[in-house]
Amino acid sequence: MSKSILVTGATGFIGSRLVSSLVEKKYSVSSLIRKGKSGHVKSKNIIGDLTDSKLDIPDTEFDCVFHLASHTPLEKNKKVLEKVNLEGTKNLFSHIKDKTKAITYISGLGVYGETQDGIVDESFPYNPNTDFVKIRLEAQRFLEKNCKELGINFTVIHFGDVYGSGGWFYDVLVKRLLKNTFRLPKGGDYYKAFLHVDDAVGSMVSILEKNAINETYIVADPAFVKFKEFVDFTADNIGASHPGTIPMFVAKAVLGGDLIKLLTTSMKVSNKKISQIYEFKFPSYQQGIPNVISELKTRELLK
Ligand SMILES: NC(=O)c1ccc[n+]([C@@H]2O[C@H](COP(=O)([O-])OP(=O)(O)OC[C@H]3O[C@@H](n4cnc5c(N)ncnc54)[C@H](OP(=O)(O)O)[C@@H]3O)[C@@H](O)[C@H]2O)c1
Repeated sequence: MSKSILVTGATGFIGSRLVSSLVEKKYSVSSLIRKGKSGHVKSKNIIGDLTDSKLDIPDTEFDCVFHLASHTPLEKNKKVLEKVNLEGTKNLFSHIKDKTKAITYISGLGVYGETQDGIVDESFPYNPNTDFVKIRLEAQRFLEKNCKELGINFTVIHFGDVYGSGGWFYDVLVKRLLKNTFRLPKGGDYYKAFLHVDDAVGSMVSILEKNAINETYIVADPAFVKFKEFVDFTADNIGASHPGTIPMFVAKAVLGGDLIKLLTTSMKVSNKKISQIYEFKFPSYQQGIPNVISELKTRELLK
C-alpha cells in the first residue's frame, strides 16, 4: 500500500510542487488548504486553517506530515506571526499527534543568525536574531519536544533561499528587475545560500523515501555566492539592467528592520549531510536560473 502523507502549506510555492511530486509518485496525499483555495485534483483536500481549534483532520493514519504552512518574513506583525507560525503549529500538532508516525518541519537558514564567516553545518548552534526566526525556532522546539514524548519521528529541514517560477524569486526579484524597480540593500555584498525549488522538493521526497528521518538537514546548493552576483546573473538572463543600491535606512523603513537583517545576514553553508542521500539536480544557481527562466518563458510570464 502506498504511504499516506499530509502536506500543510499545500497551495504555496514549495508545498504545491511537493504535492504534485508525491501524487506523481503515487503516494496517497492529503493537503491542508484554506477556504477558497483549490488544491491538487488528485489530493484529498482538507479545508482548514492552522489556527482553527476545530480543525477537522480525517481519521487516517499518516506516515508523515510535511508542515510547510506559515506566514513568510514579509509579515511584520509579531502577533500575527505568533498566532499562525507558533500557535497554529501547536494547534495543528494537537489534531495530528494521534494520527501520524512522523512530522517533517520546514524551516529556513535564518535560525543560525550571524555566523562570523564560518561555514554553517548542522552542528552549528542556533542563534536567531529576528522575531520571525525566534518564533519559527520556538515552533520547531515545541514539535521536537512533544514528538519525542509521544514517540513520533521528527525531522527538521533548513532550506536556503528557494528560487523557481513562483515565490519571492518571480514575484519580487524577476518582476521588479523587469520594471527596473529592484534595489539591493547593502549593495548585495553578502553571501546567501540558494536552492532550486526542484531540489527543495527532491530533497524532501528523498528523506521520506530513504527513511532518513529523526535528523536535522541544511538543504541549499553548495555555491558560495554573493547576493549581488545572483541578482546580476538573473538580470542578465532576462535582459534586464543590473540594479543599483538602496541605502540601508530606506530599506529598513520600507521593509522593516527584521526583514532587512534576515536578507542581509551573510551565510555560507555546507550541504554535505543532505548530499549523502540526495543528488542535487541544480548544484549551482548558474545551472538553476536558466532552467527557471526558460520555464517562465514557456508560461509567458516574462512580460
Ligand atoms: N521560499 C523560500 O525561499 C523558503 C526558504 C526557507 C524556508 N521556507 C519555508 O518553506 C515553507 C513554504 O514556503 P513557501 O515559499 O512555499 O511559502 P508560501 O508560498 O508563502 O506558502 C505558504 C503556505 O502556507 C499556507 N498558510 C499560511 N497561513 C496559513 C494558515 N493560517 N493556515 C493554513 N495554511 C496557511 C498558505 O496558504 P494560502 O495559499 O491560503 O495563503 C500557503 O499554502 C514555509 O514554512 C517557509 O517559511 C521557504
